[in-house]
Amino acid sequence: MKKVLLTGGTGFIGSHTAVELINSGYQVVIVDNLSNSTIDSLDGIENITGVRPEFVKADCSVFSEMESLFEKHGGFNSIIHFAALKSVVESVEKPLKYYNNNIISLIYLIQLLQKGGGGNIVFSSSCTVYGQPEKLPVSEESPYQPVASPYGNTKKISEDILRDTVNSNKSIKVVALRYFNPIGAHPSAEIGELIIGKPLYLLPYITQTAIGIRDKLQIFGNDYDSPDGTAIRDYFHVVDLAKAHVLALDRLVEKKNKSGFEVFNLGAGKGSTVLEIVKAFEKVTGVKLNYEIVGRRAGDVEQVWADTSLAQKELGWQTESTLEDALLTAWNWEKRLRGKEGK
Ligand code: UD1
Repeated sequence: MKKVLLTGGTGFIGSHTAVELINSGYQVVIVDNLSNSTIDSLDGIENITGVRPEFVKADCSVFSEMESLFEKHGGFNSIIHFAALKSVVESVEKPLKYYNNNIISLIYLIQLLQKGGGGNIVFSSSCTVYGQPEKLPVSEESPYQPVASPYGNTKKISEDILRDTVNSNKSIKVVALRYFNPIGAHPSAEIGELIIGKPLYLLPYITQTAIGIRDKLQIFGNDYDSPDGTAIRDYFHVVDLAKAHVLALDRLVEKKNKSGFEVFNLGAGKGSTVLEIVKAFEKVTGVKLNYEIVGRRAGDVEQVWADTSLAQKELGWQTESTLEDALLTAWNWEKRLRGKEGK
């Protein structure tokens, strides 16, 4: 059986990817320090797939912990690297925490892979590397823009590190996936986006407001150049994103990647404004949202959505779920978490 190490595998995207990998016949080993997720994800993965992945609680930025994990497994040939800190705001306040965690972890993983003779890495990157692109939809050809936060910078630097590594060592192959805005949860509501503390992203804020944990949603800015003045993003279902990881890994395992380092955009290929998301959520769930318009959030770009034709052509990937599916599954997950109405 093909074995793969998932760093950050109990997190939002990691847990959904674990499910799709197991369903595709991979043996999944998860390493996570549980700083932004809980062990309950393993129950969810097991309830969906019937398989409980091996789990190791360890910190990817501590070399000795990663070294013992690799030794225990006789090395890994494939890694999907999700483990990273991801708060834009916190990264501005504590840049070294972000550089230390996100960059050091990646370097250690590459070193350990190299020590074992090489292998495959699928890397979690972000559309944040495009900043505010000049041309929309944005393709992989678009140049990097100065990134507004240390978090965003860690993604750009990580891509650079991976590209340089591949150039110097032909035994390492990489696919970097640039995510736009993944939302939703598994249709079973067994796994989803667990929020520890205050939500950072739009969708958890919406579902927590809808369920009554938050008084109201604040919409950051209605003076953008968009049909209703609110900012535009490319929201898509996390299960579709998870499936893209399986395709990316298959491509590496089957040695189908053309160059050693490839990058793909992953999104729905369509932009929605914040207000459109609010309205669509209200329509699909029947729940009225309390919201107010406030000023712009520092560092936000005005509009960005993906050209996904490369992922379509090379990975054979495209989204299968609709925005409404994604919104409804996010809501069902929130209700399940709060014990209201069950699944
Ligand atoms: C951004 C990055 C993304 C990165 C993520 C990490 C861009 C385009 N996207 O996500 O790559 O992985 O940060 O943190 O750089 N909003 C509200 N009220 C809220 C929350 C959000 O109005 O309470 C609005 C935001 O202003 C934005 C939209 O909703 O217009 C989406 O915001 P969010 O979910 O935070 O994601 P991004 O900022 O797009």
